[in-house]
Amino acid sequence: MGSVDRGRLDGRRALVTGGSKGSGAAVAQRLRELGADVYVTARTMPEGYEHPDRFIAADTSTAEGTALVASSIAEAGGVDVLVHVVGGASTPSGGFAAITDEQWATELQLNFLGAVRLDRALLPSMVRSGHGVVLHFTSIQRQMPQYDASLAYAAAKAALRTYSKGLANELAPHGVRVNAISPGGIETEAYERFVDRIAEGNGLSREGAKQKILDSLGGVPLGRFARTEEIADLVGFLVSDQASAIVGAEYVIDGGTVPTT
Ligand SMILES: NC(=O)c1ccc[n+]([C@@H]2O[C@H](COP(=O)([O-])OP(=O)(O)OC[C@H]3O[C@@H](n4cnc5c(N)ncnc54)[C@H](OP(=O)(O)O)[C@@H]3O)[C@@H](O)[C@H]2O)c1
Repeated sequence: MGSVDRGRLDGRRALVTGGSKGSGAAVAQRLRELGADVYVTARTMPEGYEHPDRFIAADTSTAEGTALVASSIAEAGGVDVLVHVVGGASTPSGGFAAITDEQWATELQLNFLGAVRLDRALLPSMVRSGHGVVLHFTSIQRQMPQYDASLAYAAAKAALRTYSKGLANELAPHGVRVNAISPGGIETEAYERFVDRIAEGNGLSREGAKQKILDSLGGVPLGRFARTEEIADLVGFLVSDQASAIVGAEYVIDGGTVPTT
């Protein structure tokens, strides 16, 4: 089969967590364009959503939520491709001392344990069939942690990365490929709203506000954050057979933000 054909996902069933907004929405759309039958999960179905019969409304930071997703997917016949996009930080600013036990638990449930539970439910059928692909979204913060309002998030993403690597080693002999992608900043709608707030709060233009944000990271050599379609490009490649020898890797997509190897 030619390399272009090996990029197609026809006949495969996929699940994208956090697939209703931002990177996840771009990933779900891309997997559909590549031919996959794509299920999406998030807490709330967006208004006017085009594929309501493929949407599973669930909070994947809870055991009940992941159980609901797992049973819906089992009813559909399991998945060949599982992309864990869901994640985010919600702790307040103030450094390590400001983070309570409850907030630590929230960050770990959303960014780490939800993926662990969903994998535990969905991967055995991949192992039985002898094929499957799993992708975890980490963050450059797992190697370059910011301590003001995202230390718990960064630590949870580091746990996700270590778990992902061990899982990859365990499952590769069974035909299941596990990898991770580690984004730097991504230009999502939430980011655009953040830019507006910085612009307004500092009397800057939107361009000036974007520069201020890039400067706060010590600069981004590319001069901008990644676009969601660029995230989808990388995901589409990694879950396809074009990446059939890539196992246990973590692809950084950050425009050069992390200054070390
Ligand atoms: N944005 C960045 O700059 C950046 C940088 C590095 C890494 N990342 C990572 O990249 C991934 C995607 O980020 P993004 O910014 O593109 O996402 P986003 O735009 O914030 O979207 C998050 C998605 O997850 C869903 N979601 C949030 N909490 C949920 C929960 N408890 N249960 C189920 N679904 C939930 C949201 O839908 P509902 O609200 O309806 O649930 C939405 O579909 C995340 O893992 C993030 O940590 C992002």
